[in-house]
Amino acid sequence: MDSQSIATAAYIVAALLFILSLAGLSKHETSRQGVTFGIAGMTIALVATFVRVTDVADGKAVVLLLIAVAIGAMIGLWRARVVEMTGMPELIALLHSFVGLAAVLVGWNGYYEVEGNSDQREYVGTLLDIHHAEVFIGIFIGAVTFTGSIVAFLKLSARIKSSPLMLPGKNYINLGALLAFAGLTVWFVIDPSLGLLIAVTVVALALGWHLVASIGGGDMPVVVSMLNSYSGWAAAASGFLLDNDALIVTGALVGSSGAYLSYIMCQAMNRSFISVIAGGFGIVASGDDDTDYGEHREITAADTADLLKNASSVIITPGYGMAVAQAQYPVADLVRKLRERDIDVRFGIHPVAGRLPGHMNVLLAEAKVPYDIALEMDEINDDFDGTSVVLVIGANDTVNPAATEDPSSPIAGMPVLRVWEADDVVIFKRSMAAGYAGVQNPLFFRDNAQMLFGDAKERVEDIIREL
Ligand code: TAP
Repeated sequence: MDSQSIATAAYIVAALLFILSLAGLSKHETSRQGVTFGIAGMTIALVATFVRVTDVADGKAVVLLLIAVAIGAMIGLWRARVVEMTGMPELIALLHSFVGLAAVLVGWNGYYEVEGNSDQREYVGTLLDIHHAEVFIGIFIGAVTFTGSIVAFLKLSARIKSSPLMLPGKNYINLGALLAFAGLTVWFVIDPSLGLLIAVTVVALALGWHLVASIGGGDMPVVVSMLNSYSGWAAAASGFLLDNDALIVTGALVGSSGAYLSYIMCQAMNRSFISVIAGGFGIVASGDDDTDYGEHREITAADTADLLKNASSVIITPGYGMAVAQAQYPVADLVRKLRERDIDVRFGIHPVAGRLPGHMNVLLAEAKVPYDIALEMDEINDDFDGTSVVLVIGANDTVNPAATEDPSSPIAGMPVLRVWEADDVVIFKRSMAAGYAGVQNPLFFRDNAQMLFGDAKERVEDIIREL
């Protein structure tokens, strides 16, 4: 068997391992196994690519490949070690932008390889047309992914405002760009000129930027998973151009699983999938909120401890602030203390609490909170009514009653934890500032709600001392 066939066989094994990895990652219990399968698959794919290259390229190309892999691995290891859990979504968005950029470069390279050198034309007739279409589509998807991911990175890391950009006729801009892409593709297949390639690159870069800029902060989780999907399709398009089976299979896996995850998240947040992938289609700008919600009340850690001592049931709804404060460890201690007093304590986990899917579950698992008391929103939402005390620890948008009560709210329709139905609600945060979606929260002004200001970790530790 020659080395090319060995590489092809290795790619199939790697693809199978990637499928097993996805299956493993879908459950808590098997997620470590899933990661191991993924690492094994990627190692096999890298070695196979190396074998493939050494067979056809000269020594210089092999050295260049090794240097590129070494630099990439070093940067990857460094970033993965230093990134905070709360910084994961922006890191993922940035990584997607690399996939997009790579697809653009592969597309341009594919063009020059065939068009730039007439002696090397191995494509004729229909095959040549298909090649041109592949180049064009690959560059388009890659460029949309590239700028879209950069905007997502900038929004998630708060380097630009997370509110949606509302250009007049924004839906027509998106539609026009798509129509221009379709027209340019046909033109390029007939007449593959450099000018058209530049035009599609510019149109796609602008479309990617505009699509994601038009989406508000509250929908960012869906956008990140949608860009994940786009990056998969961009990789698959590169796979066709490079004639690389592993890239095609892996790209299709990432593309379809990312699309499905976006769909599930849209359902969980009661968002229209089409609206989100079409860059906020149908979302209208809401005016500034100048509603007078009245006065909020404050509570001390000592009084919160008294409330808890007299409670029969407690639900804790954690959010992004718990992650920032790293309050999960004292929270786990508090839960142990309350359970020793025979108080029923459970967690209510919103599907988009924090900054990435499963964020809260990971933090609670880290602090050794038993899985069986961490309930999903749908499992616990009917139980707030009749609960003595709810502790909202660093959560805001995910407990905002405006989502269910105010149709003009930017987060209207998003399912939220109905914490306000409990007898008493204590909200841990540092100020009256809005949450990620930038929306005021009327919960803070309810009669049964009290604010416990300060860093969540310090306040929870204060309560433990009082107990
Ligand atoms: P947010 O609405 O972001 O609210 C977090 C709250 O924590 C803030 O109001 C902040 O108030 C408080 N906080 C920050 N640091 C704190 C600290 N050290 N101690 C105490 N409080 C602190 O959080 P959420 O309820 O978890 O909602 C998540 C939001 O992020 C949603 O809008 C969601 O759509 C979005 N999002 C989610 C994801 C995924 S997939 N989960 C990804 C991207 C975006 P102060 O500043 O006043 O302290």
